[in-house]
Amino acid sequence: MTQCDLKGLLRNELGSNMTILAMNTAGTFSGFYHTVVAATNKQILESPLQGIQQHPSAKKHPTFGFTVQWQFSDSTIAFVGQCFVDHCGKETLESTWLLREEVLSHKDTWKAPRVGTSIFTFIK
Ligand code: BTN
Repeated sequence: MTQCDLKGLLRNELGSNMTILAMNTAGTFSGFYHTVVAATNKQILESPLQGIQQHPSAKKHPTFGFTVQWQFSDSTIAFVGQCFVDHCGKETLESTWLLREEVLSHKDTWKAPRVGTSIFTFIK
């Protein structure tokens, strides 16, 4: 079975694009995220991401996690997921994300978290 390689240009079901750059031997990677939707009205900007892959050299369907440092929003997000390769060799990254929106008072904490799932496929 082919190994999963997270490196490349990916797109999710919303049309957001993500570039994952080369991974080092320790399993850390960086890249860029360009979301097509946002919870803010500010202009969307491409934003850097930092992540880790578990067991970088050994696994066929490794788990991973990354965070995006939004350049236009005060929220913080963490994605966790797993890479799968189908019988044709097509890779998909299945992920769950948790976003914390900044609120100005702890009384508004109830509306600060958002959670969702996302599937990324390689476009390059
Ligand atoms: C924000 O609105 O505070 C930052 C942008 C958040 C975009 C989210 S991240 C999860 C979901 N998947 C995407 O590709 N975009 C949205």
